[in-house]
Amino acid sequence: MARIAIVTGGTRGIGEAISLALQEQGMTVAANYAGNDERAKAFTDRTGIRAYKWDVADYDACQAGVQRVADELGAVDVLVNNAGITRDGTMLKMTYEMWDAVIRTNLGGCFNMAKAVFPGMRERRWGRIVNIGSINGQAGQYGQVNYAAAKSGIHGFTKALAQEGARLGITVNAIAPGYIDTDMVAAVPADVLEKIVARVPVGRLGQAHEIARGVAFLCSEDAGFVTGSTLSINGGQHMY
Ligand code: CAA
Repeated sequence: MARIAIVTGGTRGIGEAISLALQEQGMTVAANYAGNDERAKAFTDRTGIRAYKWDVADYDACQAGVQRVADELGAVDVLVNNAGITRDGTMLKMTYEMWDAVIRTNLGGCFNMAKAVFPGMRERRWGRIVNIGSINGQAGQYGQVNYAAAKSGIHGFTKALAQEGARLGITVNAIAPGYIDTDMVAAVPADVLEKIVARVPVGRLGQAHEIARGVAFLCSEDAGFVTGSTLSINGGQHMY
């Protein structure tokens, strides 16, 4: 029986590449998305992967969304918490709304989704949870106290949940991407991005599929002894 996987934010950017990599690995994938219907439809038409719309920041919507996936595809074995947003700004300019939106989506979303899938994984004694952190959660970033706090929180969340899952056959790991060639990074002002890329030893932005390969490994059958770890895929920018 094919494993069933949910990838949040799974129709665009890094999430799209993860959905495809898990599909290639033989899994049945449900790609969650929050807003962009047009891109989600194009994604499904292109890949055959079903897209499911709900907001990961909404606890009840996550419970209902996971139930819907389970009813339509089967019980969820794999969760990739990839959905994330940025609301960059220096402390002086950052509003409470900017702070709150990022914490609720990027960090709250991990809790909401894990909460919905964990009991079933526990019952079946098998699960894979991969959380997408960030180099900016490891190293901080000017103008990102909200995003860095959320991503740093994801790394702590990962290690704590890994301890709870270990005896239950559930592994919980994180990937910390560096700057990847996606819409999110394209929104960084060009002069700022140029300076960031100049500090990447590999000398370029990463590609989404380079993150997806790492996720696919952590979700595989033979990664059962890897848990509580963070895999940094950042071109050597921050060696952590
Ligand atoms: N270190 C030190 N000083 C910095 C700095 C840095 N990294 N970046 C900016 N500054 C300074 C500027 O030089 C400027 O100083 P002066 O006023 O003395 O000239 C001052 O801070 C204000 O800078 P800006 O004019 O750029 O201020 P702003 O308010 O218009 O914008 C900002 C600030 C929003 C942080 C903007 O610089 C920015 O968007 N930076 C990029 C942030 C970033 O990397 N985001 C990552 C998004 S992608 C992502 O998050 C994915 C992932 O996981 C990697």
